[in-house]
Amino acid sequence: MNAEAGRRVQVDLGGRAYEVHIGTGLIDRAGELLAPHLPRRRTVVVTDRHVADHHGERLAAALEAGGIAVDMIVLPPGEQTKSFAGLEDLIARLLALKLDRGDRIVAFGGGVVGDLAGFAAAIYKRGVDFIQVPTTLLAQVDSSVGGKTAIDTAAGKNLVGAFHQPCFVLADLDVLATLPGRELRAGYGEVLKYGLLGDAAFFGWLEANGGAVLAGEAGALAHAVARCVEMKAQIVAEDERESGRRALLNLGHTFAHALESETGFGEALLHGEAVAVGCALAFRFSAELGVCPPD
Ligand SMILES: NC(=O)c1ccc[n+]([C@@H]2O[C@H](COP(=O)([O-])OP(=O)(O)OC[C@H]3O[C@@H](n4cnc5c(N)ncnc54)[C@H](O)[C@@H]3O)[C@@H](O)[C@H]2O)c1
Ligand SMILES: [Zn+2]
Repeated sequence: MNAEAGRRVQVDLGGRAYEVHIGTGLIDRAGELLAPHLPRRRTVVVTDRHVADHHGERLAAALEAGGIAVDMIVLPPGEQTKSFAGLEDLIARLLALKLDRGDRIVAFGGGVVGDLAGFAAAIYKRGVDFIQVPTTLLAQVDSSVGGKTAIDTAAGKNLVGAFHQPCFVLADLDVLATLPGRELRAGYGEVLKYGLLGDAAFFGWLEANGGAVLAGEAGALAHAVARCVEMKAQIVAEDERESGRRALLNLGHTFAHALESETGFGEALLHGEAVAVGCALAFRFSAELGVCPPD
């Protein structure tokens, strides 16, 4: 891959089609890369404290260098933020900043920020466009693409939300360098899922190169993220609202959700970790039922 140019994957959704730009050094070029998607030359960046501490200033500086005025909303990190209370707080802050219907929100963080800011964008003033700048491996390979947005409720995870596609996704692999190792490994649970979803060659590649991906080797990361995004883009283009084929993306997730529910959806077991265990359990269960040969 040409590191400068990066790789671009198109999500073909007719009038709501968009591009996922994957590569290195992209945050520093955010002004130039996001400008075409920001008609009013101002934006509100929604992020969490960890991401803001590591990369917030760099993103703001890059946007400002591109002539884009930036307000930054920094949320508390963690799944609890993806709640009705978190949503109400975020909407109040967007209103206080007088975000207009023609403005666009930038979701800068992992799946928590992406799901919450995406849902806020779906309902703020009856809907504004938003851009995903995912900063975890899980968000880059999975949650930033496909338009599922949601918050959790007392009755369970992701029970209130909307399908709201981003208008652009910018995945800078460099930001993964500051991601805690455990979070990177959890994201790999979703990567492995894509390997099992009907791309044996990619699964084989992961068996040989998984270590390099987890070591943060740029070329390996780029290939893994791009391949997952290509597969997700294709599935989402065929079945945006999960009436059929998109359910494939839930491989391992029935077991995963049961395990997460039992462990309280928190630090005890991260989502990607639950997916990795869930894929192994789904395989064993299928082998027991005789629908998947054990070898
Ligand atoms: N919408 C979808 O299609 C979809 C798909 C899968 C998962 N999800 C949702 O995604 C959420 C999980 O997302 P996640 O795993 O990205 O978790 P997360 O957003 O909580 O991020 C994990 C941790 O890493 C920190 N972090 C993020 N980027 C960092 C960076 N570059 N450097 C240092 N620290 C960083 C965060 O502050 C947080 O503490 C769940 O709520 C899940 O339901 C949504
Ligand atoms: Zn998942």
